[in-house]
Formats: sequence, C-alpha cells, structure tokens
Amino acid sequence: MKKIREGSVEFFTFESERISSEMPVFYNPEMKINRNISVLCAKILEIREICDVMSATGIMGLRYLIESGVERVWFNDKNPEAVRLIIKNLELNGLRNSGRVHVSRMDAAELLGSKKFECVDLDPFGTPSPFLSQAARAAKKYLFVTATDTSIVSYPSASLKKYGVSSMVRGGEKPDFFAELGLRIVLSRIMLECFSQDKAFLPVLCFAKRHFYRFFGRIKKSPGKISELAEKFGYVFYCFECGNRWFDELSVCPCGGKPCYTGPIYLGSICERDIVRKMSESACDKDREFLSVVAREEHPFYYDLHVLSKKLGLRVPKRDAVIRLLESRGFTAVKTHFSPTAVKTDADYREFTEAMREVSGNESRTEG
Ligand SMILES: C[S@@+](CC[C@H](N)C(=O)[O-])C[C@H]1O[C@@H](n2cnc3c(N)ncnc32)[C@H](O)[C@@H]1O
Ligand SMILES: [Zn+2]
Repeated sequence: MKKIREGSVEFFTFESERISSEMPVFYNPEMKINRNISVLCAKILEIREICDVMSATGIMGLRYLIESGVERVWFNDKNPEAVRLIIKNLELNGLRNSGRVHVSRMDAAELLGSKKFECVDLDPFGTPSPFLSQAARAAKKYLFVTATDTSIVSYPSASLKKYGVSSMVRGGEKPDFFAELGLRIVLSRIMLECFSQDKAFLPVLCFAKRHFYRFFGRIKKSPGKISELAEKFGYVFYCFECGNRWFDELSVCPCGGKPCYTGPIYLGSICERDIVRKMSESACDKDREFLSVVAREEHPFYYDLHVLSKKLGLRVPKRDAVIRLLESRGFTAVKTHFSPTAVKTDADYREFTEAMREVSGNESRTEG
C-alpha cells in the first residue's frame, strides 16, 4: 500500500506493476483527466449529492467532496477490499464521521434499483451497458457514465450486441471519424435507456480520450425534451472509396462508390457550450485547452486530413490553413478533441475536399 496525491486529495492505493482489473483495488492514474473534468462538471452544475456507484479506492467521490462543493457522496463497491480501503481513505481525509458520506458493499444494479440520487456516476470496468437501465432509473437530475470499451467500433457485431447499433467497418477499415461514431453509438444507448423510463438524457459534455468515453448529462422527465432528442436520431452514410459522408439516403456516392451506413444514432449536439466554457475557465492549463476545443465543436463527424489525403492522393495540408480557408469562405471550421489531424465543419464533403486540395497545392508550390 502507498499514500499518493491526486488533485487536492491524499489517499492510499495498492502498489501494482500493472494497471488491471486484477489489482486488489483498482486505481488508474491515467484516468486523472477524467476525474479532473468530472470535478469541474459537478462544481459548475452545483451538484449536491452524488452516488459513486463503483468507487474502488474512493478517489472520485473524495475529489467530489473536497474539490467540487458536493455535500454528500454515497460510496459503493462490491469488492470488500475496496470497501475497507474507501473507509481508510475517508478516515485519512477526516470525512468518515462527517455525516457527508455513506459507504456500502452492494452490487451496483441492486443499489441503483433500490435508491435514487440527484446524480449517479457510473464507472465500470469496460462497458456500462449492463448497468444503464438501473442507472437511468436511479438518476434524478444528472447521470455521468464512463465506457472503456472504445474498441467496440472495430467490431460491428459486438457493438450491435452491447449497444443495439452495428458500427461501420469494411475489410478492417473504419471511417475516418470512428472515435466520434463509437462515442455516439454508446451515447445513443444511454439516451434510449433513459427514453424507456420517460426521461431525456441531455448531453452537458461528452468526450473521447485515449481508451475511454465519458458522458455527462442532465436527466429531465419531459416528453417535449424526449421528442427533441428523438428527432435528432438518424443514419450516417459513408463511402469507403472517397471518404464522403452524408445523412439522408442516397443509393450511390457521387464518386460511384456504394455507401455503408449505420443507425439510428443520435446526431445532435454533444455538449452545452456555456457549461463547458465555464468549466474550462476553472480548469488547469492542460484541461482548459482540451475543454475550450470541445466547447467550440458543433457539427457531427469530423474529417480526418490524413485519411482523406490518402484517399485523394494529396499531400496532407496543414490543418490551420484548411480551417482559415474554410472560414474565409463563410463556413464554420474548428479543431476537434477527437483527433489532432481532423476538422469539424459545416462544409460538405465537396466543399471540404476542395479546400484541402487548394491548401495542399499551395503548400506544395511554396515548398517546391
Ligand atoms: C473502473 S473501477 C472504478 C474506478 C473508480 N471510479 C476510480 O475513479 O478510480 C470499477 C469498480 O467497480 C467495481 N465493480 C465491478 N462490478 C461491480 C458491480 N456489479 N457492483 C458494484 N461494484 C462493481 C469493481 O470492484 C471496481 O472497483
Ligand atoms: Zn465516394
């Protein structure tokens, strides 16, 4: 056992050579960014009560209590070793008898099936899918979900089984926007679970990072909001020949390629810009940069310059130059947190690739 610090919290964790679910109690220091952003989100949303339903060491719940202004946290884990460690960590932080915490050793589904909380934070190993229905039931105002099974986009039948929508893969190739496709497949599942309980899951912030997706949403019992979200579900078509994508039906791509498609998935906005902007203002430098990129993203499905340049036989143009050219033509064009080599824009495929060709040509000439 060793004592370490994350954010403003000191806590005990087990020493381990390898991060895996085989650890006596799980802790992954790489998920610090997830917890930093969760702390900011709870703070800006002024959440008072959270159920950290899979607490492990308790670090997330402790950070909510100490850094977010959250008044009460219900810690839970089915692993008895984890429960012992949570209690030890609460003692270390002087919170054990504070009246602000509750610790239980229950199966997550059972706990979520028997109680309701202002906010539920669900952070399982791998897929959240088996717990979503109970989490949607137990969440009164907010639901936070982590998914670490991001490789799901590589396997259409696995994604169909877990999330009800098959992803898109052809001969081992994925669409250039696959990180966002995977995120939207999981997000759609979360929304549908909420719909089935007459609730809307309104995205506050959803992002992909390394091997995980994270979803923060408001829960609203409102038929109007449910309809608004449901109207934003649709299909995405993709041509693996040229990298074109579109949303309304069309039997062949203008290039002659036969498109693949998937859906229905949610195609609407995945963040509340005002909230994310406020979060970024309170964040440390690194997280601020990340959040300010997310806050400016808008249109679904980014274009990846590397993938498209390869398909079109172009030299990869500089991203900033493509963005500037699109803006000068009246489009919105921004960087995306999903990929360092991609652009999000309201320009369609033809308009976008025209800009790419122009920038690529100019850059070749200046350098040649
Ligand atoms: C990914 S870890 C949670 C990490 C933690 N939230 C953090 O930020 O460090 C998942 C935890 O869920 C617990 N767990 C797995 N299945 C569970 C279940 N059905 N009910 C309750 N806890 C469960 C595991 O024991 C493990 O501690
Ligand atoms: Zn095509």
